[in-house]
Amino acid sequence: MINKLKKIVKKILYPKPDPAFSNAGEFNQADGSIIENSILKIGKNAKLTIEKGVKISGYIINVNSGELIIKEGTILSQGNNALSPRIDISGGQLIIGNNNHIKAEFCIRFGGKCSIGNYNCINENTEIRCDEEINIGDFNMISYECIIFDTNTHVMYPPEVRRKMTMKDFPSIGTEYEKPVTAPVKIGNDCWLGKRAVLLKGSQLGNNSIVALCALVTKPVPENHIAFGNPAQVKPR
Ligand SMILES: CC(C)(COP(=O)(O)OP(=O)(O)OC[C@H]1O[C@@H](n2cnc3c(N)ncnc32)[C@H](O)[C@@H]1OP(=O)(O)O)[C@@H](O)C(=O)NCCC(=O)NCCS
Repeated sequence: MINKLKKIVKKILYPKPDPAFSNAGEFNQADGSIIENSILKIGKNAKLTIEKGVKISGYIINVNSGELIIKEGTILSQGNNALSPRIDISGGQLIIGNNNHIKAEFCIRFGGKCSIGNYNCINENTEIRCDEEINIGDFNMISYECIIFDTNTHVMYPPEVRRKMTMKDFPSIGTEYEKPVTAPVKIGNDCWLGKRAVLLKGSQLGNNSIVALCALVTKPVPENHIAFGNPAQVKPR
């Protein structure tokens, strides 16, 4: 009887942690927002704010250090992805504005600042990596499997340095401790990125521009222009 009582008290005092949610930092979730089938981890130097009307389903969100703000009416959904898309912030900030529909992956490191305006669609298997600064405006349509990087992602060390790091970190390979070469990326308003469009560091899209299927952009594209090819050329739309 006493043992049974002890067990009940223990269960109340030390409930099993929910493996889908771990919070050592600051978590603000507004009433009227929904989180389902998702895994959330908030580290002790991290903050996650979810405003009202936000719906998150089928995502893995890991704010290890830094901040993620998801503003009113935005939907993060797995879409047709077989696996849950991830948002990983290991130092930096991601602000997602109002009424966006996002099914993409984000990786923010080295104090990178990524901001997304309002009414954007960013589709499945698109990958956004920010080590410095990425600004996406309003009313943009970003297709499937696009790449938006403001960073080389890896530092180009001489082989002997990379080999040492690999042997030290194995089985983890390619973890970066120094910020790679970066340059800010900007997408204006009303742009359309076709499937598999790539924006590398230094890319800037003027308002109402289009990036064609599989085009690779590394430089500014003027407003009302179409970028096509690799490396991209531009022509008026
Ligand atoms: C290979 C890479 C790291 C080279 O970066 P870098 O040495 O800093 O090169 P730069 O950005 O100075 O570019 C040099 C020139 O090549 C062009 N260029 C860069 N990458 C290019 C690419 N993938 N395709 C075509 N042209 C490219 C640049 O526009 C520039 O042209 P310019 O001389 O006319 O100005 C980078 O281009 C890249 O591909 N980064 C992405 C890496 C990746 O896929 N990471 C995923 C995780 S593993």
